Amino acid sequence: MTLKERDKKHLWHPLTQHKLHPEAIAITKAKGCVLTDEDGKEYIDAIASWYTCMYGHCNPYITNRVANQMQQLDQVVFSGFTHEPAVKLSEALIEILPKNQNKLFFSDNGSTSVEIGIKMALQFHFNQGRKRNTLIAFEDGFHGDTFGAMSVSGLSVYNGPFEEFFLDVKRIPTPNGSNHEAILKALQEIVETHKVAGFVYEPLVQGAAAMKMHNAEGLERILKFCKEHHIVTVADEVMTGFGKTGKHFASDYMQTKPDIMCLSKALTAGLMPMAITSCSQEIYEAFYSDDIGKGLFHGHTYSANPLACTAALAGIELLQSEEIQKNIQHIKASHEAFNVRIKNHPKVKSTRQTGIIFALDLNTEMARYGNLRDKLFEFFMDKGVFLRPLGSTIYIQAPYVITDEQLQKVYQTIEDSLSIV
Ligand SMILES: Cc1ncc(COP(=O)(O)O)c(C=O)c1O
Repeated sequence: MTLKERDKKHLWHPLTQHKLHPEAIAITKAKGCVLTDEDGKEYIDAIASWYTCMYGHCNPYITNRVANQMQQLDQVVFSGFTHEPAVKLSEALIEILPKNQNKLFFSDNGSTSVEIGIKMALQFHFNQGRKRNTLIAFEDGFHGDTFGAMSVSGLSVYNGPFEEFFLDVKRIPTPNGSNHEAILKALQEIVETHKVAGFVYEPLVQGAAAMKMHNAEGLERILKFCKEHHIVTVADEVMTGFGKTGKHFASDYMQTKPDIMCLSKALTAGLMPMAITSCSQEIYEAFYSDDIGKGLFHGHTYSANPLACTAALAGIELLQSEEIQKNIQHIKASHEAFNVRIKNHPKVKSTRQTGIIFALDLNTEMARYGNLRDKLFEFFMDKGVFLRPLGSTIYIQAPYVITDEQLQKVYQTIEDSLSIV
């Protein structure tokens, strides 16, 4: 029996309606930008396996470091203990984070990093005797699958059955260059009628909302408003972090820095699951007390796993290397050239780009009937390119080590796919 067949017996896959999608593709090998399935067919991983392995799959710079660490220290409780990989990672990460970030709290995945960000924001006020229980979030945001993260997410396709259990969240539109005054007015109304603890947002690019991009100047004004009203700002950089927007973090595009940042995915270069919620000294100090109850009583078993910390440290070294920084600029420029070639195609409604994230909306009025998203996915996989369209949006978020030849194949395959739309 093939892996594909054996899989069906016991496995339940994420974000999958198994009745509609009964089969998974069995991957047996990954190297650089290439995934290989059990039949030997190769696919260019043009979405870096959900934006994680940005330095390429099985990058020896990272795998060798982790292999060595495995011989030294595999796992230890991080409550009451510490270790070199965590300490070194903290020093390297604080160096590249926005200057106001000073403390790091570990967890396991993007959702939990957001959950912790929300808890920090709520308890920050609680510890100072203020009862603030409303959160603000963007329309169409996605922050993960735990309850706090779902509450601030605005995509109901994920959340339908759970909505009545959610935290109190008020939504504002994303800034688009012409709605900034209206957003500030909406914010003013919210603060006059609610006790707002925090604002949770994906800065500049909303991933699950089909790479919807928004305006940095407008976000700056929202962040300033939040600061003036003592609303804790929580930047969810789970997707945007570590170079994707062309700077180390999307928050680097704004002068007003977030109080809290959520990091995962590319944090560990795609090798191990781990997340970090970072915060400013001011946030940390609200928890620092003789009163044990004012501490942050949250902890995951694998917090700061030494192997994951080692992968993260090696990843940050690569991110800062001249080679990767050059590649980021090169991919950005290649996308810009592709955009010129594709944007006026009759089947293309609009295109957008931030850093190495490129998205293209299809002109659905011109689309043929049938499940467009599935048809496109099958087309791409058949041609050996792993792209995962979101509705009628095709996006690229390839590893920084993608070769020119691979990138051109991705572009050509997208262009060819327009004939089946
Ligand atoms: C912006 C953002 N936040 C949070 C998450 C949740 O991360 P995880 O799937 O690791 O729980 C995601 C996942 O795609 C994301 O894109």
